[in-house]
Amino acid sequence: MSEKELDDEPDSTDEEAVDSSLMGIDVAKTTDEDGDRIGSTETVIETRNLDVYYGEERALQDVNMDIHEREVTAIIGPSGCGKSTYLRCINRMNDLVEAANVEGEVRFNGTDMYGDDIDPVALRRRIGMVFQHPNPFPKSIYDNVAYGLRVQGRKVTDEKIERALRDAALWDEVKDQLDESAMDLSGGQQQRLCIARAIAVDPEVILMDEPASALDPIATSKIEDLIDDLAEEYTVVIVTHNMQQAARISDRTAVFLTGGELVEYDDTEKIFENPDDDRVEDYITGKFG
Ligand SMILES: Nc1ncnc2c1ncn2[C@@H]1O[C@H](COP(=O)(O)OP(=O)(O)OP(=O)(O)O)[C@@H](O)[C@H]1O
Ligand SMILES: [Mg+2]
Repeated sequence: MSEKELDDEPDSTDEEAVDSSLMGIDVAKTTDEDGDRIGSTETVIETRNLDVYYGEERALQDVNMDIHEREVTAIIGPSGCGKSTYLRCINRMNDLVEAANVEGEVRFNGTDMYGDDIDPVALRRRIGMVFQHPNPFPKSIYDNVAYGLRVQGRKVTDEKIERALRDAALWDEVKDQLDESAMDLSGGQQQRLCIARAIAVDPEVILMDEPASALDPIATSKIEDLIDDLAEEYTVVIVTHNMQQAARISDRTAVFLTGGELVEYDDTEKIFENPDDDRVEDYITGKFG
């Protein structure tokens, strides 16, 4: 695998929000006045002709999609259209699903992720995942964040733990109770702890499968703010059923429809304001799905 490339300073972070509300959904501005993208245009993950079968059933069909560095990519679509399946393909979690058969190509920084010489466990250290339901370990807050570092045989320092908790916007709430059980935190705090646990090992990509769907509006809003901040440093791919959330926090949006077809993938603004495909418009406006 190629080593993580050290990047120059991120491109302009002029993230002026605009209130463009066609279809009644506000879309964050992701281009500058000249129409140039604010995020990086480097591709981190490429999927080519990706098909996934569970036994005879095809869950993804011929998906071609590039995920860009230090952007938030949202994946939306009706239940069962293959969103989680897609996410699991891009850190090889589908390896753990016996019935799953993945065909086609997934590249991570140009390297074939399904190549014979790739260690999926090592890969998952660089492409972390956060799930729908917060799943902290029944350990202390500190030990939860330290977990990945310990598993990898890396040094655990108080500084690393603090940095991860700060990056996950949780530090101020837990700094005086690091030795207490993670299970005593609220759901929203537990989810931010899981994000801290994921980022403590310094991954390049963070995959999130409906990370806020089990949370109340305040906790959801904290997670959304956090995702926005994380995208300055990490590449974030998020599955969500919440259309407003996708519009608010993502740079690009991929719309999957039933049968595992990627129907449209473009700048979030374009998808929510003027999609090419009528089915996307119907889905976004609630006429379908
Ligand atoms: N482990 C599995 N074994 C067999 N079939 C599966 C498995 N996981 C998913 N599927 C099937 O693959 C299809 C896509 O499922 P997937 O979980 O990716 O959808 P999704 O878009 O994430 O849905 P949701 O929004 O409900 O989470 C569905 O038809 C589902 O029944
Ligand atoms: Mg799912």
